[in-house]
Amino acid sequence: MMSSLLTLPSTFSRLNLVPNSLVVIPYTFKLLNFVKSHKQQRLRPLNYPLLCFPYSPNSSATQFSTSSSSVSPKSFNDDLVVLGIETSCDDTAAAIVRSNGEILSQVVSSQADLLARYGGVAPKMAEEAHSQVIDQVVQEAVDKAGLTERDLSAVAVTIGPGLSLCLRVGVQKARRVAGSFNLPIIGVHHMEAHALVARLIEKELRFPFLALLISGGHNLLVLAHDLGHYTQLGTTIDDAIGEAFDKTAKWLGLDMRKSGGPAVEKLAQEGDAESVRFSIPMKHHKDCNFSYAGLKTQVKLAIASRNIAAKVPLSCASSQDRSSRADIAASFQRVAVLHLEERCERAVEWALKIEPSIKHLVVSGGVASNQYVRARLDQVVKKYSLQLVCPPPNLCTDNGVMVAWTGIENFHVGRYDPPPPANDPEDFMGINFSHVCVAPV
Ligand code: KG4
Ligand code: ZN
Repeated sequence: MMSSLLTLPSTFSRLNLVPNSLVVIPYTFKLLNFVKSHKQQRLRPLNYPLLCFPYSPNSSATQFSTSSSSVSPKSFNDDLVVLGIETSCDDTAAAIVRSNGEILSQVVSSQADLLARYGGVAPKMAEEAHSQVIDQVVQEAVDKAGLTERDLSAVAVTIGPGLSLCLRVGVQKARRVAGSFNLPIIGVHHMEAHALVARLIEKELRFPFLALLISGGHNLLVLAHDLGHYTQLGTTIDDAIGEAFDKTAKWLGLDMRKSGGPAVEKLAQEGDAESVRFSIPMKHHKDCNFSYAGLKTQVKLAIASRNIAAKVPLSCASSQDRSSRADIAASFQRVAVLHLEERCERAVEWALKIEPSIKHLVVSGGVASNQYVRARLDQVVKKYSLQLVCPPPNLCTDNGVMVAWTGIENFHVGRYDPPPPANDPEDFMGINFSHVCVAPV
């Protein structure tokens, strides 16, 4: 049952503050208690080094440090208004969210044209595209909310995982806004944000819960014990499911302008899902890990054997060619999702042994916007009398709301950095990573 420790980017770890004291505590929930007691006294910013350690009540001592830097964020009360910025991959997104869960604005500028042209994300071009629109996207989010930057309580920004060139654009913008308006800044873990946005839309969703996070780069099954504290039950050993959807779309000659997944989902509705006999990945591995590289190869071979030419767009295909493409799309989708179903069933069983009180399976990340995925996973959770929580599609794909909301959750427990200096150098990237611990089961 061992899987490797998920390591998070360390380039963003604490560069801007010198700790003045070091506190040693036994393990995570004590850390949270400590944070709470600080809050009661009068919240001061805490600065967390990146921590990753195996989850175990008996695990050895964990260290973190506090900062003496004095800062007076505009609001320590519960009425926070947080700007969230997301640039980890190919969407430039910003949103403003209130701590009561009200979404005041949401703006997403997608690089769909670049994606369609190159069939994937090219980091340098993606970085340029983010740089071109970031100011406009953030301004639009502020305007649509009917606010000015002076009304904000804090700025939250994705600092990993993702393409470092792209992340940098968002972090620099966040630091500029935070520095100019004297706002605290919160570094957000992209995958934690995908999971936690479910708590914005489902108020009954309390820790602990199980989460399946399925996107272009990740397939994660995590048991969420508490904010920042996760046990990884499974991950992909090669490709993520979103990558398999994207490549299938590309090889089938589909319109990639809304990314590959939605195009495959749409075409699959016309096809016979039993017609192409793809084998289910990792059938004999009795764990919760995933693999989509082999399924991708099976799809590629099936396409080649039917003489389907990707350069002939679907709109120009003969009706026989179209139906053959639809059969592949449907058969691929069925098997890709069967793999999710099998892994989720096992994960639910594991999770119930570790945390018998769990009541929810959260499914989030871009692929969770797929209706077939939702329907099939709903059947899985029903067998265990659990409830499926899927954010609406526009909160499953990358967005600023999930970042703002995760910022709010972290701010509430004191995890934020003080405002950067107003004359912050352009290339300075110092933001603490929010305290996210993902440990193997
Ligand atoms: O979470 P996300 O927006 O970005 C990443 O963090 O990667 O996920 C993007 C992935 C892409 O691979 C896209 O094809 C996939 O989510 N996706 C879908 C659907 N909508 C987006 N996959 C299957 N069906 C969909 N409807
Ligand atoms: Zn994502």
